[in-house]
Order: sequence, then structure tokens, then C-alpha cells
Amino acid sequence: RTRVLTGITTSGTPHLGNYAGAIRPALEASRDPSVESFYFLADYHALIKVMDPARVQRSTLEIAASWLACGLDPSQAWFYRQSDIPEIPELTWLLTCIAGKGILNRAHAYKASVDKNREAGEDDDAGITAGLFMYPVLMAADILIFNAQKVPVGRDQIQHIEMARDFGQRFNHLFGEHFTLPEAAIEQHVATLPGLDGRKMSKSYDNVIPLFAPREQLKKLIYSIVTDSRAPGEPKDADTSNVFQLFQAFSSRQQADDMRRAFESGIAWGEAKQALFDRIDAEISPMREKYETLVAKPADIEATLRDGAARLRIAYATPLLAQLREAVGLRDLS
Ligand code: TYM
Repeated sequence: RTRVLTGITTSGTPHLGNYAGAIRPALEASRDPSVESFYFLADYHALIKVMDPARVQRSTLEIAASWLACGLDPSQAWFYRQSDIPEIPELTWLLTCIAGKGILNRAHAYKASVDKNREAGEDDDAGITAGLFMYPVLMAADILIFNAQKVPVGRDQIQHIEMARDFGQRFNHLFGEHFTLPEAAIEQHVATLPGLDGRKMSKSYDNVIPLFAPREQLKKLIYSIVTDSRAPGEPKDADTSNVFQLFQAFSSRQQADDMRRAFESGIAWGEAKQALFDRIDAEISPMREKYETLVAKPADIEATLRDGAARLRIAYATPLLAQLREAVGLRDLS
């Protein structure tokens, strides 16, 4: 079976970008019986940005409840928390020892932090942790440990998947064929979902629309999306519009084509936003109630996650690490 794997960092409330870029395409892929799916909560990754334990806990609960509300069936897909699989940090170290430092120097997130320091006239690495620098190696371990072939992610993660391929290939070259090389699977009509201010929707920009915002709040947020000041009746450019980008991610090709024509013939921003709200709400509201029920039962979610990780370790992680330990010359733990 084709293995599909993806994760979300537990650093905040899940948003529409996570849904359209990762959750929805991943669950669509899962419907194919020839697919074996792996969905997880990247809580080790969260520690790189978040030093607030309560926030990591809350986010873990919310993201887990979101996956389940969106239709993940834990009896059909592997569903787990990264930090419940100790073989992941163990593999991270094995990969760290073969990962090129020069490659990590080129990682977008690290480079962006260095650029910011330079602009501020600080030392290149001021305030940058080794955790941020090593982020792509931990992510490669997430992917390689289950030999995932397809990784549904937003565009911002493509570079990380390429690095995982590079590290996997290098390890295979040195120690024998242990890893399948993964490929990113990108939703073409979603690409990067813009946030309220037009930049990429992201927890770090504080411009997100929470996936399960109550209806009224959803409406308010959608009406607050920044637009240009073209008046009703004036033609509008769909290609540069956040409202259109969002609309497209939540509608069929036909609906998007109709909206494009409405933009050309000067639809009012208020009307376009109402249409956008209707599309998003139609898709999300059937899941919202389920989410509210799930998020109110943390013990059930906890049990589901633990069970997933325990079975997954036995099925794949522990045997693989035994094989890798032997391959690199470490003692057999069994
Ligand atoms: P994270 O938590 O930032 O985002 C989770 C997923 O949501 C996608 N995404 C978006 N897609 C479209 N438009 C947006 N505005 C948008 N914002 C976020 C991301 O591309 C991602 O697919 N490093 C990863 C988590 C991770 C992971 C992995 C993913 C850790 N290990 C292994 C895949 C495989 C991250 O921080 O995603």
C-alpha cells in the first residue's frame, strides 16, 4: 500500500490553512483503500517555538479533535502524537550525524531568522536555538521512520520534504537501503492559503481564521479580510485577491469560474465576502458540532492517541530502529 503521512505542529489553534493544505487532502487520500495513512501531532516541533506547556497541551487536544471531527477514523489510519514514539528522536540523532550542515544553513525558516538579525544589525545567530536549526532533521525522522511515500503539505513545507529525501538517500548510500524516499503532495488549487492580511495564513502572523471558529466569529473574520478599495461595479482582479484565493480553496472549479467572472464584472467586496462565508460555512459546519463534542472529552482523545502510538511502535518503529542500530554499529537492545 502507498504510505501517506502528514503532521501538524501543536503550537496553536488549527486554522483554515492547516485544513486546506494538509487535513483535507490527507483525508481525501485516505479514502483510497490502497493507501495506508499516518497522521500525527508534531509536539516536539512545537517546543521549538512555544515555551508554554499549557498552550502545547491545549493545541494537542484541539488539533487531535480537529482531525477526528474532519473524518479521521483511528481504526483505519495510524493516528498518534510524535512524542509518544521515542524512536523518532532516536532516529533524529542517527540522521543528524549524516545531515549536511550546509543544507540546514539553507532552510527557509532558519535563513529568515538570520536575515531578520542582519536587518536589526545583530549577530547572525542571535536568539536562534539549535532546535530551530535542526527542525528539518526532526521532520525527516518523522517521515522516514514510517517510510512514507507521499506527504500532503502546504507549499511552505516542500523544502523540508526535499531535505528528508536528501538525508534518507545519504543514509541509504552509507548503510544500505533502509528508507523509501518521500515526495510532497501539493493541493494545486490551494497552494498557500492567505490570511486576513494577505500574507500566508500562519500562527506566527496572527492572521488566521480558526478552523472551528463559531459561525458568528467566522463571519466577522471573513468580513475583516483586507481588500483594495475598488467600489462596487469596478472590475476586480481575482488573481491578486485574498478573497478569491480563499474562495477557490473552498469551491468547485465551476463555482470558482463563476466567481472569477463576477470579479470581472465588479462584484461588491461585501457580496464576495458573503459568498465566501457561505462556502466555508457549508463545508465546515457539519464538522463543527462534532468538534465541540470531541474537544470536551480530553480523556477519550488521550486514550486514542496512546493506543495509536503503542500499536505503531510495535508494528514499525521498534523493528526499524533495531535494524538501523545494527546497520550503523550500535548494540542490539532486544
Ligand atoms: P504546520 O503546523 O506549520 O502546518 C501544518 C500543515 O498545514 C499547512 N499549512 C498551510 N497550507 C496552506 N496554506 C497555509 N496558509 C498553510 N499554513 C499551514 C502546512 O504546509 C502543513 O502541511 N513542519 C510541519 C509539521 C510537520 C510535518 C512533519 C509535516 C512536522 N513533521 C512531517 C509533514 C510531515 C509544520 O510546522 O506544519
